[in-house]
Amino acid sequence: MGKQTNSCVSILSKEVQEALQAYIFAQKDTVYAYVHSFGCQLNVSDGERIRGILTAIGYTMTEDVAKADLVLLNTCAVRESAEDHVYGVLGNLKQYKQAHPERIFVLCGCMASEKHTPAYVRKHYPFVDILFGTAALSQFPRLLLEHFQGQKFGCDANEYDAMYEGIVPARAHPFKAAVPVMFGCNNFCTYCIVPYVRGRERSRKPERIIEEVEALVKAGYKEIMLLGQNVNSYGKDLEQPMTFAQLLRRIDAIEGDFVVRFLSSHPKDATPELLDVILSGKKIGHHLHLPVQSGSDSVLARMNRRYTVESYQKIVSYLRTRNPDFSLTTDIIVGFPNETESEFQGTLDLVQQVQYDNMYTFIYSKRRGTKAAEMEDHTTDAEKRQRMERLLTLQREIAARHNQRFVGRTLRVLFESESKRDGYLIGKDNAFIIVECQADPSLIGTFQNVRITKARNWAVEGELVKGE
Ligand code: 5AD
Ligand code: SF4
Repeated sequence: MGKQTNSCVSILSKEVQEALQAYIFAQKDTVYAYVHSFGCQLNVSDGERIRGILTAIGYTMTEDVAKADLVLLNTCAVRESAEDHVYGVLGNLKQYKQAHPERIFVLCGCMASEKHTPAYVRKHYPFVDILFGTAALSQFPRLLLEHFQGQKFGCDANEYDAMYEGIVPARAHPFKAAVPVMFGCNNFCTYCIVPYVRGRERSRKPERIIEEVEALVKAGYKEIMLLGQNVNSYGKDLEQPMTFAQLLRRIDAIEGDFVVRFLSSHPKDATPELLDVILSGKKIGHHLHLPVQSGSDSVLARMNRRYTVESYQKIVSYLRTRNPDFSLTTDIIVGFPNETESEFQGTLDLVQQVQYDNMYTFIYSKRRGTKAAEMEDHTTDAEKRQRMERLLTLQREIAARHNQRFVGRTLRVLFESESKRDGYLIGKDNAFIIVECQADPSLIGTFQNVRITKARNWAVEGELVKGE
């Protein structure tokens, strides 16, 4: 008993905190928790806040699942393969429960918010003790306490409006920090499970976000990643509405040497106001991740994306005419129900025109409960896989050629980690270009100038400019 804990967590009342500690420290002085997050950066960021709650209760984090008293899987539901992966991991974990039945197993995140999941988990993975949805994170301490009090299966997938304010995240990275600006999504793209598992859009108050970024910069963080399912609609639901562009401008004005990035943007909400802030920002990376999903108007309509290829191209040319080097990345879904060869050709044409710096490609995955899951689909799996190959081949050619433009230039790079190549570091420049360079590991976490000597299809290579 009597552990040092972080008491500034408002979701955790003093009574609940003390009651929990009485249970967890009844037999041991140190109790371990293992937390694993699957999926996107928002989910990983939720995972950091969950670690924050567990640390505040008194748990010590471990990466060794075998010694964990509490095992928590923070799941992803975006594609079937993500769910299969989680169930595979869960199945492997059963042995740890069998060896020590007092161990607590928790399932949360996007999968846990799907309607059918609690009954499915109950039936196939009865050793799971607690399940809570993405919008019920604030209920975790209560569910944990009820478990200690004898509750067999604690389950809560309701939507609470808690914005996780007051939770101090246990950050995994020493100089890169994710800061959620909003939760949920109102768009209902027909293929997407997110609006069903993350609820309606809720924006954090700008003051809370600014405070968090200021504190991070003061603490030495060099990259601030603002996160939301659709950051471009930030602020519409606030008592005093504001735009994401206005928020970005305020963050850009914070003093210090850091770079601001954000994910993810919806093309229908990419206003000239926003594009101008990105173009003129001092700390905002000259990069936009702008998921297009398809280069065919008919597919975009079936996806309910609410923009056309032409309006998307207008955004691209607005950015590239003002900054020809502006870096663009995208997400593309191949094989949306009944995608025809000519519709797919539209995607190849668009990719050829835009010349993306990088792209994330996915074969369409049917998600139960979404509109697209009801659509007829006569495109075969073999066709979908073959189209994916063609798209990847095209992108590899484009990237290698496109990266040539950096050769001979000097980029300011934030070194992030050691490369697989001995003696080399990997970093990113302001526009998210991946740079590999021979340098000492002591430079990880610092900005350095690198003169680019070579282009490859996933990165560029260069030499450190000494004497900076
Ligand atoms: N199938 C395949 N890809 C999907 N994505 C979202 N839902 C699906 C789905 N059902 C992709 C989109 C999105 C990215 C995060 O995941 O491209 O932008
Ligand atoms: Fe996966 Fe989407 Fe949930 Fe992120 S928000 S974890 S991508 S389902």
